[in-house]
Amino acid sequence: MKQAVISLEGITKTYVNGKLVVPVLHGIDLNIYEGEFTSIMGPSGSGKSTFMNILGCLDRPTSGSYKLDGEEVATLSDDELAFVRNKRIGFVFQSFNLLPKLTAQDNVALPMVYAGVPKKERKERAAYLLDSLGLGERLDHLPAELSGGQRQRVAIARALANDPSIIMADEPTGNLDSKSSVDVMNIFTNLYNEGRTIILVTHEPDIATFASRNIVLRDGYIVEDKQNPNMAGLQTVQAPTESVAVSPATAQKAVKSVIPKTVTEKVNTEQTNEGGTSHV
Ligand SMILES: Nc1ncnc2c1ncn2[C@@H]1O[C@H](COP(=O)(O)OP(=O)(O)O)[C@@H](O)[C@H]1O
Ligand SMILES: [Mg+2]
Repeated sequence: MKQAVISLEGITKTYVNGKLVVPVLHGIDLNIYEGEFTSIMGPSGSGKSTFMNILGCLDRPTSGSYKLDGEEVATLSDDELAFVRNKRIGFVFQSFNLLPKLTAQDNVALPMVYAGVPKKERKERAAYLLDSLGLGERLDHLPAELSGGQRQRVAIARALANDPSIIMADEPTGNLDSKSSVDVMNIFTNLYNEGRTIILVTHEPDIATFASRNIVLRDGYIVEDKQNPNMAGLQTVQAPTESVAVSPATAQKAVKSVIPKTVTEKVNTEQTNEGGTSHV
């Protein structure tokens, strides 16, 4: 039987800003299993981002239990939560959240700073990841010098920096044109084919067809949870949207052996911690 990597019981979230009390999540029970590709849909304001931020260890629930690989994380301190996040979860945002003054390569290398990876290796690995996502010629570019699709690929490379088994994304195609969206979804499909667990929020039904399981959230409750027997799979990108186009074949090759194990082993043995808390 497959392992539940994420196990939620009675998760609630209520925002309190002074006298304003906003209950958003009302008690969510959910198991997500290793290797699943789950989409979460729902109307604007239904609590998708709130839920995703809790799943991604960017925020804590107000009550309930969240077990990640069997470990209770609902009650961890900020620093403990940041540590868990940096090690186990790669998070991709709608607005990319790249640091504008850092090059693509340095943006991708950043989570490895927090993980204590030596500089030379972080540079090499960041270059490797970017190259594997079709951005080998863009290492020294600043985010402002890249297209939206390219920025999102940099953000995906950054999410992969520490070789997490879980990739989470909140509307990752929300700011992209349809061809770049397919590029990005092909990359997620390849990550799924590699055995990673993917959780993705979207409001686009087309994007949800890439997932193996479709969940619908409404008013802070899960109102639908179905397997998708007709996953979209890798799609052909009709024409290059940018100077570097990722064909399904390239994307497949790209993400196949995306992480040289030597790097991850090094991370575990060489704890030369140079930084504090990761926010990526
Ligand atoms: N920090 C916050 N403080 C107060 N209310 C919030 C905060 N963040 C989100 N909300 C409210 O929670 C509800 C759900 O928001 P959100 O999770 O962003 O929904 P979605 O991502 O589905 O659009 C909305 O009513 C929103 O206004
Ligand atoms: Mg949202």
